[in-house]
Amino acid sequence: MAVYRWRWLCAYQTQKILKRYRFISIFFVCSIFFSCRQTPVNTKYYWTAPDTLEIPNSALGKEIRYGRELVVNTSRYFGPDGSISIYSGGMNCQNCHLEAGTKFWGNNFSAAFSTYPKYKDRRGEYESVTQKVMDCFERSLNVLLSTDHKQSAPDSNSREIKAIVAYISWLGKNVPRGVKPEGAQTRDLPLLDHRADTAYGRQIFYLKCISCHQKNGLGVKNPDKPGYQYPPLWGKQSYNTGASMYRLSRLAAFIQDNMPFGATYEQPQLNNEEAWDIAAFICSQPREIMDCSKDWPDPGTKFADIAFGPYADTFSYGQHKYGPFGPIELWRKNYKKNSQPAKQ
Ligand code: HEC
Ligand code: HEC
Repeated sequence: MAVYRWRWLCAYQTQKILKRYRFISIFFVCSIFFSCRQTPVNTKYYWTAPDTLEIPNSALGKEIRYGRELVVNTSRYFGPDGSISIYSGGMNCQNCHLEAGTKFWGNNFSAAFSTYPKYKDRRGEYESVTQKVMDCFERSLNVLLSTDHKQSAPDSNSREIKAIVAYISWLGKNVPRGVKPEGAQTRDLPLLDHRADTAYGRQIFYLKCISCHQKNGLGVKNPDKPGYQYPPLWGKQSYNTGASMYRLSRLAAFIQDNMPFGATYEQPQLNNEEAWDIAAFICSQPREIMDCSKDWPDPGTKFADIAFGPYADTFSYGQHKYGPFGPIELWRKNYKKNSQPAKQ
């Protein structure tokens, strides 16, 4: 009986409190509801690069600092008048991996340590960070294709490659395994529903880009040291056709979030259409051709915007290069569904 009375009293008191504070309680319940609804937003992982002052004063610290220096001033070491080799065209890793690989949506390295080794359809097997760095040397810095194929790229066991990997690993050291932070690499822009327009792209390019990259797209060399003040966007000294920047979607996203120099994701200077069209104009210009016949052992897994065959679908080469990519993406989805589950 006493227990019953006590329960009743409790219920009665709760009711009284709820009545008195009903607005507060409604607010309380609502805020719980909305904060639960927002959980997916909160699951995004935001990364800030560790401060370079945190680099330890040790042998490892020395290696990390050297790796950073190589990313920032690659041409000083690898050419064309580099102290280690003379084979690269003169670009720096930092030309594309902005602010030493730390800029939000500026091709930053935040996901490299946490997500590699990673299964790559392009390779048909797992790839390590070291292999990825070598890939960027070969394709983005176009070193293996240069006049003399021997000893052009640094050896994967060299002090330099190890230092670059040490720097990239240090940058991503706090990112939990498997997590790709928001702002890593480049964004996926909304796709156009039509082919990107190279002629319009050329017009905007002339308006917004040639003050630095020049009308001929070949950039401006440093007057007093190796490498470029403004890097080349095409031509022999630029990245080759095997590079990820040659994919329209990667280039368009990079341009919208970072160019003209000083633009950011928060303060872009080009709209979506302009970014795609300028990218199409740049992709239409000549550059070194890499033999990519060993890439994509299963051509059906190729990204929609890979501008070299063979293809498993029937879309034209032109559509793979300039879009529209929506129909190809649909085809790829179906292909993936009907083939082996992708290894990720
Ligand atoms: C011409 C531009 C360009 C240059 C120069 C360049 N890269 Fe890259 N790099 C890219 C692009 C584009 C990607 C692909 C990112 C993606 O998959 O979306 C990439 C990817 C990478 C990745 C993998 C990042 C990840 O999260 O998957 C690493 C590591 C890397 N580059 C290292 C380097 C190093 C080291 C150098 C200098 C030796 C270099 N890159 C030079 C454009 C470039
Ligand atoms: C004020 C000078 C300036 C302007 C204007 C400018 N850029 Fe750049 N751009 C740079 C610099 C400097 C870099 C290299 C960044 C670094 O090393 O930190 C760069 C890098 C690039 C890269 C990657 C490296 C390469 O050579 O491929 C691309 C692509 C690019 N710019 C495209 C454009 C486009 C497209 C426009 C016009 C919308 C543009 N830029 C306008 C200065 C400029």
